[in-house]
Amino acid sequence: MRSTAFYRNEFIIHLEKKIEVKEPKNLYEPINYILGLGGKRLRPVLTLMTTDLFGGILQDALDAALAIEMFHNFSLVHDDIMDDAPLRRGKTTVHEKWDVNTGILSGDAMLINSYQFFESYDSEVFKKLTILFSKTAIEVCEGQQYDVDFELRDDVTIPEYLKMIEYKTAVLVAAAMKMGAIIAKASQNDTDYIYEFGKNLGIAFQLQDDYLDAFGDPETFGKQVGGDIMENKKTFLYLKSLEFAPKEQQESLKHLYSLQPEDPTTKIETVKSIFMESGAVEEAKKEISDYTQKAFDALVSIKMSEKNKSVLKEFGENLMKRTV
Ligand code: IPE
Ligand code: IPE
Ligand code: MG
Ligand code: MG
Ligand code: MG
Repeated sequence: MRSTAFYRNEFIIHLEKKIEVKEPKNLYEPINYILGLGGKRLRPVLTLMTTDLFGGILQDALDAALAIEMFHNFSLVHDDIMDDAPLRRGKTTVHEKWDVNTGILSGDAMLINSYQFFESYDSEVFKKLTILFSKTAIEVCEGQQYDVDFELRDDVTIPEYLKMIEYKTAVLVAAAMKMGAIIAKASQNDTDYIYEFGKNLGIAFQLQDDYLDAFGDPETFGKQVGGDIMENKKTFLYLKSLEFAPKEQQESLKHLYSLQPEDPTTKIETVKSIFMESGAVEEAKKEISDYTQKAFDALVSIKMSEKNKSVLKEFGENLMKRTV
């Protein structure tokens, strides 16, 4: 049984082989910088793991894993511009270390680069991977647009929120796994269900991200804690608080989410206490666990040994416990 650390290590060796800083430096250095900051490497690990668990050749999945991680990092560079975020993986964001134009163009280059990593696949696999990738990438854009649209709306519903996080986050996790299955030449049924597994896990993952954005440890989380509250993001915690809190607190929450104060300390503290007291935090934890279970349910329909399925379950369990 191979560990997550094994897959991560294989991936990093491949990444370091493939990434080089060329001229013009101001285009490539930010790419090298963001990829070098690490992160959990969750998506490429899932691609490699899925190929392996479906009996494929691990090495065959390395370029697809790289495409996925490159795309993910592109989306983070642009996301940090859109969210006005100062910190990523405990370091200064690209647009703050360089400038916004550098973030835009380096991000664009990363997006193109990510497609180039599919060029090593034969035409049948290439076609399947790129079709899936394009569909996924456009959905991520749609999710990101909903996310920013919701900042200014005060009538966002829970189903709308769930759709938004499915698109901005979960479909990429799902596609990462489906690509692994495609490379292993798994059956149509298995590739479809592994996508369902990844999608539900991805939804749980984003719910957890929203929780950590408010309640994570600033020392270890690597992003600015309270950033979503500052940006008036309509997260699950916010929407559930509006549902659960007494009228007076609902009004105060709505009012706070119409402001962007110079010093956000009081806003963040007040909002967090409403999140906690209303029962929204507890509900979010339940929702995370429900979506993780939904992911596990998708495994039932997959033809794979119980031993291999337990690797995926353990991965899901650990993701729920994450603090970074
Ligand atoms: C951050 O993704 C963006 C979200 C979808 C929440 P990760 O939490 O996987 O970021 P890294 O790659 O580990 O830094
Ligand atoms: C990010 O969502 C989704 C994408 C980058 C596509 P967030 O804005 O919540 O991610 P973080 O919190 O900045 O990592
Ligand atoms: Mg963000
Ligand atoms: Mg964002
Ligand atoms: Mg976030």
